[in-house]
Amino acid sequence: MLVFLYLVDYTQCFMPEAKLRVLISAEQIQKRIAEIGAQIDRDYAGGGPIYMLCVMKGAVMFFADLARAVTHPVRMDFIGLSSYGKGKTSSGEVRLTKDLDVTVEGFDLLVVEDILDSGVTLSYLIHVLQQRKPRSIRIATLLDKPERRLRPVAVEYSGFTIPDEFVVGYGLDYAEDYRQLKDVCVLGG
Ligand code: IMP
Ligand code: MG
Repeated sequence: MLVFLYLVDYTQCFMPEAKLRVLISAEQIQKRIAEIGAQIDRDYAGGGPIYMLCVMKGAVMFFADLARAVTHPVRMDFIGLSSYGKGKTSSGEVRLTKDLDVTVEGFDLLVVEDILDSGVTLSYLIHVLQQRKPRSIRIATLLDKPERRLRPVAVEYSGFTIPDEFVVGYGLDYAEDYRQLKDVCVLGG
């Protein structure tokens, strides 16, 4: 009996029950990524390798799929930023939790982000990267919530503009859960 109760608790820890409504399907995501990949190929044609920078952890799925949609040579590195803590609203404070492993001076940088919300995270990151003297910096974001913007951020490649709703899946989390979902879903919808 004791063992049974333990198993019930264990399951609840790792499989949070919640209402999820699909906002953008896996198919729609892949179709849009193919378009963005082709656009990146056209824009960087004739240039050197693109340094794709994955903003951990939310961008990991988009980063991996986008890299494979690009045929122009790419290099990869990872950067960790944190602004959200465990809630649904930004703390307004950004921390660098993992720096790049490489020197990016003179390279074309493509920052790959999951979602552009207030813009606080990306404007901070761009400021940090500019000090490394790259040749260029461009941003690719899967999602854009323009209604909540506090800082203006120029984005070259944007997957989908979405309304002001909290979304999870395809890398995006709520308190570290739901990243593995194939679709982008509204939590609580
Ligand atoms: P910003 O600094 O407000 O633009 O926030 C950007 C970061 O907040 C993203 O990289 C996400 O990690 C997180 N974020 C913003 N909106 C959402 C959401 O709807 N779901 C999950 N994470 C979000
Ligand atoms: Mg993020």
